[in-house]
Amino acid sequence: MYSKVALTEETTTLSKIEKQGNTPYLKSVSNIETQNITLKTVELFAGVGGFRRGLEQASMPTKRFEIIWSNQWEPATKAQHASDIYIKQFGAENHSNEDICTVKTESIPDHNILVGGFPCQDYSVASSLKNAHGIVGKKGVLWWEIYRILLEKKSKAPKYLILENVDRLLKSPASQRGRDFAIILSSLNSLGYAVEWRVIDASEYGMPQRRKRVFIMAYKKGTKPYKFLAKLKPVDALNSGVILTKAFPIQPITEDIITSKTLSNDLVDITSNFNQKTPKKNAFWESGYMFDGVYYTARVNANYQGKYITLGDVLIDEKDVPKEFYINQEELEKWQYHKGAKSFERTNKSTGHTYTYSEGKMSFPDALDRASRTIVTGEGGASASRFKHVICVNGRYRRLTPIELERLNMFPDNHTEYATDTKRAFLMGNALVIGVVERIGKVLLGEISQTEIYHG
Ligand SMILES: C[S@@+](CC[C@H](N)C(=O)[O-])C[C@H]1O[C@@H](n2cnc3c(N)ncnc32)[C@H](O)[C@@H]1O
Repeated sequence: MYSKVALTEETTTLSKIEKQGNTPYLKSVSNIETQNITLKTVELFAGVGGFRRGLEQASMPTKRFEIIWSNQWEPATKAQHASDIYIKQFGAENHSNEDICTVKTESIPDHNILVGGFPCQDYSVASSLKNAHGIVGKKGVLWWEIYRILLEKKSKAPKYLILENVDRLLKSPASQRGRDFAIILSSLNSLGYAVEWRVIDASEYGMPQRRKRVFIMAYKKGTKPYKFLAKLKPVDALNSGVILTKAFPIQPITEDIITSKTLSNDLVDITSNFNQKTPKKNAFWESGYMFDGVYYTARVNANYQGKYITLGDVLIDEKDVPKEFYINQEELEKWQYHKGAKSFERTNKSTGHTYTYSEGKMSFPDALDRASRTIVTGEGGASASRFKHVICVNGRYRRLTPIELERLNMFPDNHTEYATDTKRAFLMGNALVIGVVERIGKVLLGEISQTEIYHG
C-alpha cells in the first residue's frame, strides 16, 4: 500500500530535480504525501529532554516524531536530577536511567531516527580497530556507544541521525585540528551514512540566546537525502543543503571557497595522520557534508530576515523575582571585579611555569536589547562570577531566574521546576535551544517519504 504512493512520489521528486538541472532540493514533497508517517525516535544523552521537546513541537497530526525510548544517566552524581525531570515531564515508560555503556543494543527498540547531544571527548583510536565485539575506540568515550548501537543494529540501524555537540568539536584536538570530527565522519561513512553538518548560532535565526552548536545529520544509504547528496554538485549541496541549510538558510557561496578532501577509512591512520602537516589550520568549517568518504566544507553566513527575540523579551515580571536574585551594593563590587579587565601572574602547579594571565572586560550588566550570551552550567548560585548573567532592571542588578534561563533555551516555563535553582541553571547550561531542533524536525518531516520509513 505504501510503496505505490512512495514510488510515485520518488519518481516525481527525482524527475523535478533532473528538469531543474542544478536547482537544489525540493519544496514539494509534503504536498504529495497522503498518508501518516510516524518516525520512531530514540533520544540518547537526553538530559531534560531538549530534543524531545523540539521534535514534539515540530510534529504535525499526519507526520510526527514519537520518542519510543530515551536514555539519560549522570555519571558525576548519585542523584539523577535530569532523568528525574525527564520522567516527571514525559513519564517513566520507555525511559532508561542507566549508563549507556551498560545498555545492550538489543534492549533498545528498533527505530527510524536516533537523536542526542553527546559529550565532546577525545575520539582517537589507539591500535586495533575492532575488539572481539566489533566495537572500536576507547572505553567511556560516548561517541563509540552511538557507533556501537548503529553497528549492532545492522540492517535495522536508524536511517537518520541528528546529533549535537559544541562547535569546538570541529577543531578538536587543538594539537591536530579536526582529527576527532574526521574520525566521526569516517566511522559514519563505514556504516553507510552520508553526513551533513552546520554550526548554528541560534541567535542568528532570531532565537534569544547566542548559543553556537554543531548539528550533525546522517542519512543512511537509500534515503532520499542520501540520494540527493549523490546527485548535487558540491556548491549546490552546500548552498541549499538537504535538511540543515534548508532549515537555516545561508548567504550564497561560490565554488572557489569550498575545501574538499577524501577521508581515510582507517581510523588509526586518521588518529595518527589527519591534518598533521598543518595541525593548527582548520580542516572543517561551519558548513559541510560528507558523501562516500569525501567531505566538502566552507565558511558560511546566516541569511535571516525574521524577527529577533532579545534577553529583555524573556524576562519575567519584576514582582515575581525572588529577593535572593538581587545583588546588593556590597556584592556588586565583587561582580564588577570579576567582570572587569585584569592581568596577573599565574603559576602552573604541575610544571612550575609562571606566566601572565589576562582577561578582557565583559559587558556589565548584560544587554537587554540583544540575545543573551551562552548559558553555561555554572550559571546558578549567588556567588559573583565572570560568566553568569547579570541584568539591571529599574536600576536594580540581579541574576537570571530559572524560568528566564528556560526561556533562553525556548523550553516551556517551569520545565525543570522539580530541582533547586542552582541545579535548574546547570541543566539549562547543558541543554539546547529547542527552537533549533524544532526547525530541523519540521524540515525533515517535510522531506521524508514513506518509502524510507516502511521499506528502506
Ligand atoms: C550535553 S547534555 C545533553 C542535554 C540534553 N540535550 C538536554 O536537552 O537536556 C549530555 C547528557 O549526557 C548525559 N550523560 C553523560 N554520560 C552518560 C552516560 N554514560 N550514559 C548516559 N547519559 C550520559 C549527561 O548527564 C548529560 O545530561
